[in-house]
Amino acid sequence: MTLPPAPSRSFASDNAAGVHPLVLEAIGRVNVGHALAYGDDDETRACERRFSELFGRDVAIFLTFNGTGANVLALTALARAGDAVICSDWAHINVDETGAPERIVGTKLIDLATADGKLTSEMIADQVHALGDPHHAQPAIVSITQSTDLGTVYTAGDVAEICDVAHRHGMRVHMDGARIANAVAAAGGSVAALRAMTIDAGVDVMSFGGTKNGMLGGEAVVFLDPAIGARGHYVRKTVTQLPSKMRFVAAQFNALLDGDLWLALAGHSNRMATALHAATAGIPGVDAGPPPAVNSMFPSLPSPAIGQLQAWTFFWDWDRSRHQVRWMTAWDTTIDDIETFATGVGEIVAVCN
Ligand SMILES: Cc1ncc(COP(=O)(O)O)c(C=O)c1O
Repeated sequence: MTLPPAPSRSFASDNAAGVHPLVLEAIGRVNVGHALAYGDDDETRACERRFSELFGRDVAIFLTFNGTGANVLALTALARAGDAVICSDWAHINVDETGAPERIVGTKLIDLATADGKLTSEMIADQVHALGDPHHAQPAIVSITQSTDLGTVYTAGDVAEICDVAHRHGMRVHMDGARIANAVAAAGGSVAALRAMTIDAGVDVMSFGGTKNGMLGGEAVVFLDPAIGARGHYVRKTVTQLPSKMRFVAAQFNALLDGDLWLALAGHSNRMATALHAATAGIPGVDAGPPPAVNSMFPSLPSPAIGQLQAWTFFWDWDRSRHQVRWMTAWDTTIDDIETFATGVGEIVAVCN
């Protein structure tokens, strides 16, 4: 077996990617003189205006350090004692945040079994029986992830149906949009598509991811109804998500929103996943799964091949019982990386199959 050198960029995660040069440049641009801290600066104000322009009406934004913090801030602003959050069993808040929502927000998570990571309006309607029962945590918030942890996407219609049923029963809707850009890119890559699946569909609060899409670090919690966001000002520091040198997070978002760079980067990342799927689906022994909707695919491989491939270039196991792994592309993945990776997969799987 002759393996080529590992690809320059791995397929482990979009979090493994570096920072887009225009984002770095923006950090340098604002690294001049002093500016007041905690968001009382021109760069942050410009960022706030940009988000309102993006959503087509006044929204309240809170820039945070990371995605877990963004989710915790959004949910804390919504949740009261005794409330519960309905989410998918695959949701990041349920699986990958070390219990932060339960510990910090202080809510019960009602994690519903989903094959594809997506809640449905019917699943939410099934939970309303608990409303009004003092022995049950009250389903008060629905949290959906767009795009999901399984690389699936909600259509604007799906989101609208969920919001309708939730609102009818007095619940609020939170969207974990750590990868909202990938979902919007998959839906045609326009500002109209963003609005259709968020503000127009009735989402109350969302996080808008930056880190996975070329930023150095930072996310935005967007209260699509600023009236609900009013509490965010006070909640934010209690969950440790008030960056003092806010201008550096704001500058990154301003770079990303400039000329719709966020959509170009996510569109590229999605296309690279499609190319990765095409390059590996025909390899005997690789069960590539369905073509990716966004920037991840979940193939199954012969078990002995997995460790060997990971030793060559690391990626994450997904479901060990099914020898399933996750390959993820990023804003900077190249066709060259894909060809090299596919060659390595072919070589290693051929000897393990
Ligand atoms: C869907 C989703 N939400 C939230 C997060 C949390 O982001 P962070 O790692 O910045 O806390 C992640 C991170 O991978 C994620 O995939």
